[in-house]
Amino acid sequence: MSYDFTGQVAIITGAGGGLGRAHALAFASRGAMVVVNDLGGARDGAEGSGGGASNAAEKVVQEIIDLGGKAIANGGNVTSESDMKAMADQAMDAFGRIDILVNNAGILRDKTFTKMDISDFKMVLDVHLMGSVLATRAVLPMMQKQEYGRIVMTTSSSGLYGNFGQSNYGAAKLGLVGLTNTLKLELFKYGIRVNALAPVAATRMTDDIMPPQMLDFLTPELVSPAVLYLCGREAPNGEIITAGAGTFARVQIMESEGLFLGREATPEMIAEGWDSLSDMTTAKIYKQGSD
Ligand code: NAI
Repeated sequence: MSYDFTGQVAIITGAGGGLGRAHALAFASRGAMVVVNDLGGARDGAEGSGGGASNAAEKVVQEIIDLGGKAIANGGNVTSESDMKAMADQAMDAFGRIDILVNNAGILRDKTFTKMDISDFKMVLDVHLMGSVLATRAVLPMMQKQEYGRIVMTTSSSGLYGNFGQSNYGAAKLGLVGLTNTLKLELFKYGIRVNALAPVAATRMTDDIMPPQMLDFLTPELVSPAVLYLCGREAPNGEIITAGAGTFARVQIMESEGLFLGREATPEMIAEGWDSLSDMTTAKIYKQGSD
């Protein structure tokens, strides 16, 4: 299997630093023409240049060009429908096609749920969930026309399993898994495959959250192989992959076989049958909700 992306065009959102930068460099090193999107904002989503290209994005573009690759910068905000449409148009004008979209842009506004301002809850949903929706919608017409596309949603263990102080972020991140689960069904007929990545890496997003000795091994570059795998011609569809510190794993949602209690079901019967109904040894994985 070859992971040569020569002739393909990859858009990476939030690629002015951290994981997105590593993905952009990895795609470019394997021949892809890359659109480096980044608003250039702070970790909590403050500031940012908006419309034009941001310094953060332009720096990464320069790095790619210095290494002999092809890239252009885009400073669009993923929460803006018109910015995302303009980003897709810019990619088409510069390179003539769009093969890959990695929805990576993100912010953090951590606080326990009771202390969190609703505006911070909404803002995190807006950037992670709606940002991925808007970027995906913007590139879809081109991918459908080409009958080829690879889309990666960036989820997180905080959404898959929970994390104290990250109710907004966790809700947004698991929302992306829900989005993936439906898009994998709706877009497959167009040759488009949609998967999710749950990364772990030392970036500014994690620099005060993880111990320093752990951070040394958690380089963003050790996550990017999973993104390239999910964007290859032989990519799977609807998978969730975790990647961090050189370890890669598959995540699946499972359901126990269950206990049939019939029309007479009572909460007491559920309590009595709990050991049996919660037994995961024969659990099943469903490919869609109507299975
Ligand atoms: P980062 O903060 O270094 O990178 C995020 C980038 O997104 C920044 O360059 C920022 O300017 C950009 N951005 C933020 N809002 C934007 C907007 N509205 N429009 C365009 N760009 C915007 O963080 P990191 O760690 O590289 O995160 C990348 C992705 O990976 C995020 O979605 C994050 O939630 C996710 N993730 C990271 C983990 C980690 O261990 N670093 C763990 C799990 C998920």
